[in-house]
Amino acid sequence: MKLSETKTVFQNELSNLYSKSEIEELFSIFCENFLELSKIELRQNLNQSLSEIDSEKFSEAISELKMGKPFQQILGETEFYGMKFFINEHVLIPRPETEELLELAIQKVQDLRLKVKGLKILDIGTGSGIIPIVLKKHFPEAEVSAIDISESALEIAKRNANFHKTEINFIQKDYLNEKLDDIYDIIISNPPYIGIEENIEIEDSVKGFEPNIALFSPTSDALIFYRKIARDSTNHLSGNGTIFLEINQKLGKETLELFQHFPKAELLKDISGNDRMIFARKF
Ligand SMILES: C[S@@+](CC[C@H](N)C(=O)[O-])C[C@H]1O[C@@H](n2cnc3c(N)ncnc32)[C@H](O)[C@@H]1O
Repeated sequence: MKLSETKTVFQNELSNLYSKSEIEELFSIFCENFLELSKIELRQNLNQSLSEIDSEKFSEAISELKMGKPFQQILGETEFYGMKFFINEHVLIPRPETEELLELAIQKVQDLRLKVKGLKILDIGTGSGIIPIVLKKHFPEAEVSAIDISESALEIAKRNANFHKTEINFIQKDYLNEKLDDIYDIIISNPPYIGIEENIEIEDSVKGFEPNIALFSPTSDALIFYRKIARDSTNHLSGNGTIFLEINQKLGKETLELFQHFPKAELLKDISGNDRMIFARKF
């Protein structure tokens, strides 16, 4: 089969689920991954014939896409902060908002001229390990730790850390029910922050394919992780410590209130104008 014919099959089979431009984008993503063709090369090679193995890969991808499976899970990888990360059904697919959280943290460490050598950083709810890995890449002299309750998520995080040749101290822990063992200079987190009552607003492709433990607060209190982080900041955040949190856009004010005991605590918006991040510092 020719690539142009495969493209037509892609468009016909997926037209009920995705818009034309989304299908175009998906097709080019799979061509890049399966055939190593850039968008320009793809346009120039539409007459190319596909091997049987490649045709089979496209057919399987179409079947999985039709079931609503996210393309990142089909490929087993995604791009985040310009880097490749392995992912699977045990971890959240990294979101662009978390890139913004990292940009903020990196900028603040530089602006506040924090001493990076030995800077102790903790990521709570690390999932695929994107946060500690990006931070360690930027601040190789920092001591970076990351917690997750899920062994399966930590396996992926460790694979990503090895792939990027970064040394991270991964800790399997139920953050809500176990104590922290150390004092950190930076606590960063994108914890599960969707309240149980918001469940109906979440798309099936998210609920059905991404781990619920990564999405939803375990109780009716959507701020449960933030309350514990605010409490822990008393004994587990150093005197010149800072906190960076991704938050539920509907709970900006309520989340900020939890950090009012800090000399400085700010609620920041994401690029779409939604309340999305808390930055707090103890000095
Ligand atoms: C929203 S995901 C964030 C993943 C990753 N940091 C990111 O930004 O893509 C939240 C993570 O918290 C973890 N988690 C959920 N409950 C936890 C708990 N009680 N203790 C530690 N980690 C938990 C989940 O396994 C999941 O990986």
